[in-house]
Amino acid sequence: MKDVITIDGPSGSGKGTIARRLAKKLGYQYLDTGALYRAVAWKAVQDKIDINNKDALNTILGNIKITFEDDRVLVDGKDISSEIRTGEIGELSSQVSAIPLVRTALFNMQRDMCLKGNVVIEGRDTGTTICPESENKFYLDAAVEERARRRFRELNIKDPGITMEQTIEDMKKRDLRDSSRESSPLTKTNDMVYVDSTGMEIDEVVSFIKNNLNLN
Ligand code: DC
Repeated sequence: MKDVITIDGPSGSGKGTIARRLAKKLGYQYLDTGALYRAVAWKAVQDKIDINNKDALNTILGNIKITFEDDRVLVDGKDISSEIRTGEIGELSSQVSAIPLVRTALFNMQRDMCLKGNVVIEGRDTGTTICPESENKFYLDAAVEERARRRFRELNIKDPGITMEQTIEDMKKRDLRDSSRESSPLTKTNDMVYVDSTGMEIDEVVSFIKNNLNLN
């Protein structure tokens, strides 16, 4: 499967920006799988449910309608693109994503996009679980300090009280949870091209991936 490009990696590695830009260049669709987990976490907060309450979580998963319009994420028709990019939702989405019933519920939508092809999919398990047949798999990484710096710049706009030290700590905690959970953990496999974007410009990373694609 050559027309599916998967990009996995830890938080703040730049997957979203890179994948979106690459998709635009190739004329492909773009799927931000993290936004799905963030949307479920956002809904849990809205409905004031405890994510450990399986029945309540199942009700959410059975009813939630997540759609994408251009670069926006909608839940039941409401644009939540900005509301899901907070430290609180980032942390809760990581917790939610470790629950197997959540992963099962969100699998089909992601798998359907993979089967349609012409898509760049990014997340934590896109090359291992969502689209293991892809022949264009990348693992995007960067030093934790640099990833935290990028995330800090985003979060600080909404929450001026947040510190760099706190951002690094939160990121390490989230990395550990995302890569050590039982269900589809973040993993780098031998068939993924490893890209360390520390010190690289966005366009350099996009060009590197584009030059390493196997599309024919
Ligand atoms: O990439 P992100 O920060 O928007 O992802 C939010 C959380 O969702 C992340 O901490 C782990 C989870 N996630 C996942 O488990 N599997 C994916 N394919 C994408 C994200």
